[in-house]
Amino acid sequence: MAYNNLIINSEANITTITINRPKKLNALNQDTIKELHDAFKVADADKSTKVIIVTGSGEKAFIAGADISEFADYSVEEGTHLAANGQQILFDFVENLSTPVIAAINGFALGGGLELAMACHFRVASNTAKMGLPEVSLGVIPGYGGTQRLTQLVGKGRALEMIMTAGMIDANKALSFGLVNHVVPQEALLELCETLAGKIKKNSSVAIRAAITAVNANFKTGVNGYQTEITAFGNCFGTKDFEEGTTAFLEKRKAEFPGE
Ligand code: COA
Repeated sequence: MAYNNLIINSEANITTITINRPKKLNALNQDTIKELHDAFKVADADKSTKVIIVTGSGEKAFIAGADISEFADYSVEEGTHLAANGQQILFDFVENLSTPVIAAINGFALGGGLELAMACHFRVASNTAKMGLPEVSLGVIPGYGGTQRLTQLVGKGRALEMIMTAGMIDANKALSFGLVNHVVPQEALLELCETLAGKIKKNSSVAIRAAITAVNANFKTGVNGYQTEITAFGNCFGTKDFEEGTTAFLEKRKAEFPGE
């Protein structure tokens, strides 16, 4: 698929997906959501991609939200479909991806932008970043999982304050909330994400996939996370990565994981 709104760069086992609509502050229109689905799917299927970084082009915005111009005249049915389809093809899809996804928040992460960052496995922000869920100022609520994931990440009181005030928090407040893991100057953002990706990619991709499944199980209704962990743990014993990891340790050498 040729992308009109994304730039993809794959290097040293890291695929960086850059949302590239800087004139619209990288707002998520439907075409961009479809392209992102495809780009994440392709990167996940590519065995040479060990980590995905998602960021926004320009210095101003990660993503300034869903594209308001597209849904301003939607009906109840269309609004419901917008949220359901978006959650399925992008936000849940990213959260449940086997390949680790890091959000590099380089500026405004608002509405659907913060929701995408929250669907990623963890977040790093530039000190210029501003985050918020301003939907109630438009007469709507977050629809791409924001009410759930913000509550999981920062707790109910902070989530409701952010949602009800429709305000923005800066990067340091987001750090103190646990919404982002690190804050760095903008010019150091991708470098830090790549350093973290470099640490991740040395480890067993099969075990990392199992860890994502087990951690995500904690947030799924009707799923016993402890049981998911036991099953995923047991399955690791049947993998080549486990054989290599334990053998390399006992032989006092670095593991070369086959990813199987
Ligand atoms: N959807 C559609 N277009 C958007 C957008 C969005 N979510 N966010 C920004 N844009 C567009 C603006 O309409 C403007 O386009 P134009 O130049 O054709 O008029 C362009 O991006 C630049 O934005 P602008 O508002 O001029 O920049 P700013 O620096 O004055 O303000 C923001 C930046 C982020 C504070 C402001 O753009 C904003 O509030 N955006 C909407 C945020 C939002 O409510 N998101 C949740 C959507 S559910």
